[in-house]
Amino acid sequence: MKQNIIDIAYVVSAIMFIYGLKRLQSPATARKGNQLAAMGMFVAVAATLFVQQILTPAQMLIGLVVGGGFGAYLAKRVEMTGMPELVAAFNGFGGAASALVAGAEIARFLAPNAADLMGGAVMGGVDAITISLSILIGMITFTGSFVAFGKLSGRISGNPIIFPGLRVITILFMLGAIASIVYMEMGAGDFSAAGFVGEPVVQAAIAIAVVGALLGILLVVPIGGADMPVVVALLNSYSGLAAAATGFVLDNTALIVSGALVGASGLILTNIMCEAMNRSLFNVLIGGFGGDSDSAGPAGTTSAEGLTVNSTTADDVAILLSYASKVIFVPGYGMAVAQAQHAVRELAEELAKKDVEVKFAVHPVAGRMPGHMNVLLAEANVPYDHLFEMDEINGEFETTDVAVVIGANDVVNPAARHDKASPIYGMPILDVDHAATSIVLKRSMRPGYAGIGNELFYNTNNQMLFGDAKDSITDVISEVKAL
Ligand code: TAP
Repeated sequence: MKQNIIDIAYVVSAIMFIYGLKRLQSPATARKGNQLAAMGMFVAVAATLFVQQILTPAQMLIGLVVGGGFGAYLAKRVEMTGMPELVAAFNGFGGAASALVAGAEIARFLAPNAADLMGGAVMGGVDAITISLSILIGMITFTGSFVAFGKLSGRISGNPIIFPGLRVITILFMLGAIASIVYMEMGAGDFSAAGFVGEPVVQAAIAIAVVGALLGILLVVPIGGADMPVVVALLNSYSGLAAAATGFVLDNTALIVSGALVGASGLILTNIMCEAMNRSLFNVLIGGFGGDSDSAGPAGTTSAEGLTVNSTTADDVAILLSYASKVIFVPGYGMAVAQAQHAVRELAEELAKKDVEVKFAVHPVAGRMPGHMNVLLAEANVPYDHLFEMDEINGEFETTDVAVVIGANDVVNPAARHDKASPIYGMPILDVDHAATSIVLKRSMRPGYAGIGNELFYNTNNQMLFGDAKDSITDVISEVKAL
């Protein structure tokens, strides 16, 4: 009976996860989708604890208030630009939880009253495999995610950390992990009563945990800070695999289903990001690309070929925009840094009052995480039907009077179309250079994420409005209002 209730609850929660994921497809339904998936998790956890009588209702309530309160506090406090690091930290905790649960399962198999605890089951070969994978993937996810967190938050250098022998050491650790898994496999089911620490399965588990923790660090340190969002998506997928492995350890369907969903969606997301950057996952993981973009020194306003940029003022931009009939805003990472989204929305509204047609062009990898620009613009209440994806809007730049690039750089760099030597060659871009005039808002001539110059800035029909994007837009708004 109890098992039936749990099974039904798990099916309900799985449906809620899947339906929740589906609703994440559009910004308009994403919030509801997220809430639904969170409710699904609540149903699964509550059913397990309640029906199995693992905890008293009071203990559950305390756990709910402490855990939920901590999560809500972190989520409320974090800036939108800090979201990838928060996700990295959550992934890390997920990985650690999987490893701990797998470790606890070994302790249950070895307990003096194991026969009662495990319903007479002994630790077999399949248990050894699932437990060791759960510990290994969980620990890689744990330390890897916290290195990613450190790089994203600037606590660790965002530059790739590569030293001689790194790859050899990494491969040796991988072999060590395989050897430890085999050792656990051999020790399973045949406990020697040598005391807890003397048991081969326990020794193997400790070895797997240590090697996994070191592997997580070694795999992530060589990757540049700017590639961390891809790494976080991949680690997210790993945390799902670790949870699914733990689901097999515990024979828990809800964990297997949710772990598989996280594993698959993390992998799909990783793939989407790599495709949009036109880079292979191998190229990302091999590391060495994209350090701290801010560490690149300011370049001059004259290119190596002697070309110069036209810089403009807020007054001139206001006149240009006010008398245009069609304007497209192109937001990028700099809009997130400047937190200029509210000012941008206000400018769009002011222009609409002057009968200017305003649209927003969103590149799939603008910013530093998937949907970064959509989230910021939604937060600023820009209507969803004003946002257009790259394929929808690219043909419209030809008929646009002014394209306003707000802190975007790589996603509008024409070198991606023709310069085979460029690291972004082949990446689809927004065709802002096809507009009658383009205006780029940024603080300096410093490069963006890919660390390369941008020929758009030197076009004769391009003007640079230097300064913090929020300050510049605020100045333009007051000039537009005054016209
Ligand atoms: P970037 O090419 O990184 O350029 C951002 C620009 O914003 C910089 O050149 C910077 O110039 C400017 N900026 C920074 N702070 C600013 C401020 N306060 N005010 C005004 N401007 C500011 O950005 P993008 O065009 O959005 O391209 C995104 C890049 O990230 C792509 O290369 C993409 O492949 C990569 N990437 C994206 C993702 C996802 S999923 N979105 C994941 C990993 C990597 P100044 O310093 O001169 O101001």
